[in-house]
Amino acid sequence: MNFFKKNSFRFVNWLSRTYFSSRLSYSHIEAFIFNNSFKKIKNILLCHWEIFRGVSEVISFPYLMILEVTNICNLKCPFCLTGKGISGGRDKRHMTYEEAILLIDAVADYVYMLQLYTWGEPLLNKDIVKIVEYAKKKNIYVMLSTNATALNEVNVQRMISCGIDYITLAVDGISQETYEQYRVGGNYQKILDNVTQMLEIKRSLKSKKPFVEWQFIVFRHNEHEVDAAESLAYSIGIDKFTPLPAYTEDKTWIPEGEKYKTELLNPERLRHCERPWTHVNVRADLGIAPCCYEFFKKDDFGDAKQQSFKEIWNNSYFQSSRRMIYQKHMGQKLEKSNIICRDCILSGVRPSYINVKADTPAENTIPVINIK
Ligand SMILES: C[S@@+](CC[C@H](N)C(=O)[O-])C[C@H]1O[C@@H](n2cnc3c(N)ncnc32)[C@H](O)[C@@H]1O
Ligand code: SF4
Repeated sequence: MNFFKKNSFRFVNWLSRTYFSSRLSYSHIEAFIFNNSFKKIKNILLCHWEIFRGVSEVISFPYLMILEVTNICNLKCPFCLTGKGISGGRDKRHMTYEEAILLIDAVADYVYMLQLYTWGEPLLNKDIVKIVEYAKKKNIYVMLSTNATALNEVNVQRMISCGIDYITLAVDGISQETYEQYRVGGNYQKILDNVTQMLEIKRSLKSKKPFVEWQFIVFRHNEHEVDAAESLAYSIGIDKFTPLPAYTEDKTWIPEGEKYKTELLNPERLRHCERPWTHVNVRADLGIAPCCYEFFKKDDFGDAKQQSFKEIWNNSYFQSSRRMIYQKHMGQKLEKSNIICRDCILSGVRPSYINVKADTPAENTIPVINIK
């Protein structure tokens, strides 16, 4: 059974890395099948019709919602902007339950998937379980990625009981020595105990959900542990093991093997980004970002504290972003604009890296492109 599972997912991972820039996700397919409605399907069709025609002032709604329930974290991962202690000009805070439900309600009729994290550790928000419960009652597929430090018997029981759909566990090593090099401040044995307990609770509740993915970000210091981690994952009951190419600003962290080489440039974005039509991203301070890679407050497209979702969704930022993406797609000259999508479209560098200085010595640092 594990042999079949392992090899099937190896094939899926290869397909995803090779053709989908590691973004092919089983969760989208499942959400589309089980969390849909006539209204949602009508909206998706309209949305893609508007993308195809390059419509900038849209009548469709986003069908994916990303709520950053917190931008606070208890680890210090060296290439994560939160881990580096950068605030990006935002208040460090947890989104409140009341804020989250207002935001969910604004798009619940159209959204089939809700992702509950961006740049922080979602389980540190004390209301995370209540937010999951609310979204599940609204027939939305709910997923989150966690460093697993704050998984405990109580939150796991409740999240499984209300039907959380997908949990990604970010664990990049199978020994303390390896694990803590990226997950700085984490304790490997504690993480493994938390994960094992979660899988035991899932078994005892006889629940098929959540689908549990072990995500292993591959760096030079841990590439030798990938195969052993994969075997361990399937032996304890993980549904899918995913070795992921890392984003890194330091060449000495890039794996020696070819298989998981870091890609600073993002081919998917250069091909054709659809996020300003399909996604709505709300940051912990209620800033509205064009995509989950945007980090700095100055690059936000709106503020949900000041304006309603409908006012923001077709404002000049969103319209300009959609126009520029279409202009690039059609091989036209891009309009003049100060918004971050322009730099992203022209450079292919993820927006969170634009203008960020690495903390590493110059000779090892991958140059950050600054386009003006
Ligand atoms: C910023 S984290 C926030 C969620 C949570 N704290 C976690 O670590 O899973 C969002 C995702 O980015 C991933 N990530 C962090 N550093 C990365 C890196 N250098 N390369 C690729 N993915 C990374 C995490 O593993 C996680 O899946
Ligand atoms: S655990 Fe997640 S949010 Fe925290 S520093 Fe690491 S990658 Fe960033």
